[in-house]
Amino acid sequence: MAYKLGIIGTNWITKQFVQAAHESGQYALTAVYSRHEDTGQQFAQTFNVDAVYTDLESFYTSGINVVYIASPNSVHFEQVKAAISHDIHVIVEKSAFSNPTEYAAILELLHDHPAVRLFEAARHIQQANFKIIEQKVAKMEKISGATFVYEKYSSRFDDYLAGNEPNVLSRRFSAGALTDLGVYPIYAAIKLFGAPKQSHYFATPLRNGADGRGIAILRYNDFDVTIEFGKGSNSHLTSEILGRRDTLVIGDIAEVLNVTYYDDGSTAHQLSQEPLSNPMIAEVVKFADMMTNPNETVEAYQELLTLSRTVNQVLFDLRQDAGIVFPADEQ
Ligand SMILES: NC(=O)c1ccc[n+]([C@@H]2O[C@H](COP(=O)([O-])OP(=O)(O)OC[C@H]3O[C@@H](n4cnc5c(N)ncnc54)[C@H](OP(=O)(O)O)[C@@H]3O)[C@@H](O)[C@H]2O)c1
Repeated sequence: MAYKLGIIGTNWITKQFVQAAHESGQYALTAVYSRHEDTGQQFAQTFNVDAVYTDLESFYTSGINVVYIASPNSVHFEQVKAAISHDIHVIVEKSAFSNPTEYAAILELLHDHPAVRLFEAARHIQQANFKIIEQKVAKMEKISGATFVYEKYSSRFDDYLAGNEPNVLSRRFSAGALTDLGVYPIYAAIKLFGAPKQSHYFATPLRNGADGRGIAILRYNDFDVTIEFGKGSNSHLTSEILGRRDTLVIGDIAEVLNVTYYDDGSTAHQLSQEPLSNPMIAEVVKFADMMTNPNETVEAYQELLTLSRTVNQVLFDLRQDAGIVFPADEQ
């Protein structure tokens, strides 16, 4: 039986998610929440759905069993809290919560609702090419360091240059380059190498105090991971993980498209597979399995939750290091 899916946030990413969810055969969109009736109707029509809500309580009592939340980061907390309180599974976009205080409150609530599963939609770490990276890293004799790059000119940057403050470049929405793009390579680093023992962030601030780009350094016992990301320029650098003489080169750390291993003799071995047409398929399948088989998947689920919480803590530590405060930190 397919999960009855509700969605919050009607931007393009939600369409891509619903398409992936339907393609998996394990979800059926049954309810749409939007702040505006007409925006909700427009979204719902794309998927032939009638149930549109502008009131969150009515949405959560409409019979859905899982919600996908793709609203601005700062509003995730209240929307997730309400979902868990209604015993609805949650798939929340990254970055899931503004800070560790919010995360701790969510974990406490989950404790009182043990049947509910909470997933952060870090799609790239579920993709087949990321599993290939993990397997290769496990076999590399020595890790000397890594550099991950994710820097893309955002369509919203035009708006910023025009004098406005788009959500995604605003501290008010717990956003900026770190929580919007940096979160992908940081997720990748922590999934591959664990929690860093120290972290530093050299941020380039925008006029509103949010970070437009920056360089983060995650320090491990005997190597560092340098992470470069930004929303106001385009980088064409690849990402790489350094062995001793060998190197793993990753075409795009967020899309995980090309993975090439250069062995000790610098011979190139193409490891990556052709990615699936929709990059969210792998995660929706994984999450459905964890909701359907909670006992069999409890360890894997706890690992995912711990990873998500560690990423949240590292994002916070990095912001502290750079002196970036979100209004959500002061509540
Ligand atoms: N996984 C990925 O590849 C990916 C890609 C892009 C974004 N994301 C994540 O998805 C989330 C949304 O990002 P986005 O760029 O789509 O954000 P956005 O455009 O600022 O907002 C997304 C949706 O949230 C609702 N919304 C807008 N402003 C709001 C406000 N002030 N209060 C409450 N709801 C509001 C709107 O839907 P209604 O008008 O219908 O209410 C809007 O369509 C973020 O967490 C982001 O990091 C993930």
